[in-house]
Amino acid sequence: MATILVTGGAGYIGSHTVIELVKAGYEPIIFDNFSNAKPAVLARIKQICGRSVPFYAGDIRVYEQLAQVFKNHKIDGVIHFAGLKAVGESVKKPLEYYDVNVNGSRVLLQVMSDFGCKNFIFSSSATVYGEPDAVPLTEDSPVKRANCPYGQTKVDVEYMAQELQIAHPEFSITLLRYFNPVGAHESGLIGEDPRGIPNNLMPYLTQVAVGRLECLSIFGNDYPTPDGTCIRDYIHVVDLAVGHVAALKHCLDNAGVHIYNLGTGNGYSVLDMVKAFSKAIGRELPHKFAPRRAGDVVSCYADPAKAKNELGWVATHTLDDMTRDAYNWQKNNPNGYED
Ligand code: NAD
Ligand code: WQD
Repeated sequence: MATILVTGGAGYIGSHTVIELVKAGYEPIIFDNFSNAKPAVLARIKQICGRSVPFYAGDIRVYEQLAQVFKNHKIDGVIHFAGLKAVGESVKKPLEYYDVNVNGSRVLLQVMSDFGCKNFIFSSSATVYGEPDAVPLTEDSPVKRANCPYGQTKVDVEYMAQELQIAHPEFSITLLRYFNPVGAHESGLIGEDPRGIPNNLMPYLTQVAVGRLECLSIFGNDYPTPDGTCIRDYIHVVDLAVGHVAALKHCLDNAGVHIYNLGTGNGYSVLDMVKAFSKAIGRELPHKFAPRRAGDVVSCYADPAKAKNELGWVATHTLDDMTRDAYNWQKNNPNGYED
């Protein structure tokens, strides 16, 4: 079965995808610099898979470190998760985000070209759509200049990869635009473990639930939505991981550019999430309303028909699955992975 390099494979989505790759019979190899992950995740992956997954410590910006993997293994394809992803941090450190996310991706594509590896799957984001003109979003919805450096790096890498495919038509370039990944593997052994105070809603909810944080601030309840809070397409991280296996099956050695929205097609408000999470923990989650957060879009959710029709993939986990599994991970790991 194909050997797949998983950059950022020690991270939240990467680790879940490695599990699904092993289940599907692929041979994943993890490449990660642990800038936003802990080595402990490797043992958890082994515990779930029943075997070790080969691991290389390294930085995607360093050609020789990546090349070493290609010298040691015949890599059939790459799933590229490695990168920085904090919207607020990107505004403060734009050059670091361009260095890692864009330059790092450039080095990776160069190594792939030099070693004859033509299959590239990229972790893109619904953020490339900016403030949607209309929802639900399809893959033909306009890609816009992003409203933060992080989002712009996603737009830039999408274009860079497509330009490579125009110059070298033998490449298979797959752009997976994730909506809002949440939840955790059912075992509770792996999950989302953000550094510092979480920017994202779900880890903030789980940390309030286990007492690491006091109260959720809901950023704005005066939006033009049914309950005044913003709407998002939350998708279980295991559904997202399975989506990568479906994309791999369809796109490996299938030259061209393949773009898919990976979402459920359902939009839930922040208050919907608070209610669902309160149900999961059996008590009302402490929350209060606060001013709007700069950069938030009002409503963003997917039309996932293309992934269903072409990949045969549909998200199957419910909102209750998402909240249950997110809480189960945090309950079992109140401080995240140990150092
Ligand atoms: P994450 O931070 O958990 O995983 C990223 C991994 O990449 C980490 O393990 C980190 O150590 C590694 N990494 C970072 N810089 C590196 C470098 N220079 N060299 C090698 N490894 C490096 O993030 P995630 O939530 O798993 O996201 C994975 C990808 O999906 C990212 O590219 C992110 O932008 C994208 N994405 C995430 C979301 C989301 O909400 N989580 C949504 C859309 C897209
Ligand atoms: C969801 C909703 C907040 C925290 C971000 C990135 C995006 C992608 C996914 C990487 C919003 C509200 C949140 C809190 C709140 N990441 N919220 N209180 O902003 O949709 O997307 O993560 O690609 O690029 O922008 O997700 O979880 O931060 O927010 O009220 O403490 O929850 O205002 O309406 P978002 P989020």
